[in-house]
Amino acid sequence: MNINDDGISNDSKNRTFQSVLEVFSSRREVVKGGLTLAAGTFFASSALAAKGGKKGPNAPTGQNRQNGLINFTPVPVAEGSGPVPSISEDYQYQVIIPWGEALKSGIPSYEGETDRSALAYQEQQVGIGHDGMWFFPFRRSNSRGLLAINHEFGGNGHVLGKSLPTSIDDVRISQHAHGISVLELRRDDSGRWHLVKDSIYNRRVHGNTEVSFSGPVVGSEFIAGDSTPMGTLNNCANGYTPWGTYLTCEENFNGYFGASDGSWYPDSRQSRYGLSTSGFGYGWHLFDERFDLSRPANSLYRNEENRFGWVVEVDPFNPDAMPVKRTAMGRLKHEGATLVEGHGGRVVVYMGDDERFDYIYKFVSEGNWKAMRAQGMSPLDHGTLYAARFNDDGTGEWLELSMNNPAVAAHFTSDAEILTFTRIAADHAGATKMDRPEWISVAPNGDVYCTLTNNSRRTEADAANPLAPNADGHIIRWHDSERHTGLDFVWDIFIIAESTHAEGDERTFSDPDGLWVDPDGRVFIQTDGGQKKGLNNQMLVASMYDSGDNMDVRRLFTGVSGDEITGIAVTPDRRTMFINTQHPGNGNPDLTNFPAEQGSGRIPRDCTIVISRKDGGIIGS
Ligand code: FEO
Ligand code: CA
Ligand code: CA
Repeated sequence: MNINDDGISNDSKNRTFQSVLEVFSSRREVVKGGLTLAAGTFFASSALAAKGGKKGPNAPTGQNRQNGLINFTPVPVAEGSGPVPSISEDYQYQVIIPWGEALKSGIPSYEGETDRSALAYQEQQVGIGHDGMWFFPFRRSNSRGLLAINHEFGGNGHVLGKSLPTSIDDVRISQHAHGISVLELRRDDSGRWHLVKDSIYNRRVHGNTEVSFSGPVVGSEFIAGDSTPMGTLNNCANGYTPWGTYLTCEENFNGYFGASDGSWYPDSRQSRYGLSTSGFGYGWHLFDERFDLSRPANSLYRNEENRFGWVVEVDPFNPDAMPVKRTAMGRLKHEGATLVEGHGGRVVVYMGDDERFDYIYKFVSEGNWKAMRAQGMSPLDHGTLYAARFNDDGTGEWLELSMNNPAVAAHFTSDAEILTFTRIAADHAGATKMDRPEWISVAPNGDVYCTLTNNSRRTEADAANPLAPNADGHIIRWHDSERHTGLDFVWDIFIIAESTHAEGDERTFSDPDGLWVDPDGRVFIQTDGGQKKGLNNQMLVASMYDSGDNMDVRRLFTGVSGDEITGIAVTPDRRTMFINTQHPGNGNPDLTNFPAEQGSGRIPRDCTIVISRKDGGIIGS
């Protein structure tokens, strides 16, 4: 989602990543290849590999790829536009679970008709805005499992066929189109995947599903109200835990709120979250007091706006388990929550906050996750939250966001307040203002990769700077000390999107968003933004062992007009990959009817694309 991710609410004096990068890049020019020395030992493995120091079947250098990580024939630029997807000639794809498909037999599916009456059953149909997801196999199966998938957003024009809801029933359809689905998928003997209708695991969690809260904010005034906590919204990217649960992340929740009489009780801190009297134009507040910022101060729904912006844990294997909002990981516009096991069995969760000039965060559990769970504690409820500061010399620090940090404590009275207004705590801590942090992925050598999708408001960029212009985004990586749990790190730039964009260069891409580094070191990059050369949004594959201007970046898939490519999940053998096309045609059937036949007049629908290699090989190879 690009249009609504790009506000600015951070007017703190914290340094921007651009200014850090300018100093860092000029320093790097001076030391020429001395990154390993300058950066200490943390980066040694990737720096070595980049120089060709790491050899082996899964770690080729840029010069020797014949039998290496990436061998497929890329989609040519000339074929990557128009109303239907393109895929490498070495691959094939299949469409599953479009928006509106019924989870049960006996319920009608919505199939893109201009008559949307089937959407009266939206809470029992696949939602819209397919985004982050993960595949939870049954016993390591490569042909049967549960797909947990986010439904980030769907504008009124797409979902309702009108710009504003005209009844509470319209609002309910819109709310039910959001949230997540848990769906049982199976691959049949012919290799085709399908939704198992009537599976006991099939489930929708949407804007009106009962949820619970846990962690330090519970019991505080900040989320207090007399109403039952309900719903999850703007579910963007995701994570998953080693104990088998799914993490769905609430991003632009502010957009669903509005003020029916134009007035709003004063809490200036909410402007840091972009809450406003108009929101994104969903108009829910016109019929649903929950989303009305003009509600009376004693409303049942007071503080409703603080009940969104969290990481939400869902157990896909227990359809009766209530989703839990884990407040220890802070309230922000969470893009995703990437979990890795760190030193001492502690879990570390990396999170981006996708807005111009917002921050990168990490959460570290108090103890070993297995020991905590054995004591009946969630590792995601007890721990410490940090925000990142990137220094000019290629080092960085994690800044604690709690009453233990005097720079933060001077502005708050409790950890519950800090976690409710996390962005403001990070302002005071001195975190570095980033260019819209989107997805984060941990590479096999422990380096952590993060897409910074773009930031067109960077006026200080200049042509002499390797990043200028930064309108197209880049990917950074860092390496934390003490196996992810330490407070310092070293960092580097993996790729600047614009650097692959030259006349006649087939590698062009911009606005990196979805990201996954596979266990062999392939870096899957998905885009969300205006691509160059007429390309639709796309998914590309690079190698973490590659570097420099000649980096091999190959286009595996291109989407359809107006869409964005989102979400990455794989079967355990990595021979099946699931990705999504989100908002195809931006809902406009004149641009595309996908996944229906072109010329059918059908309204385009978000759907999941199942990708496999024709020779059955590992995806990305
Ligand atoms: Fe939900 Fe930042 O994309
Ligand atoms: Ca985006
Ligand atoms: Ca995104």
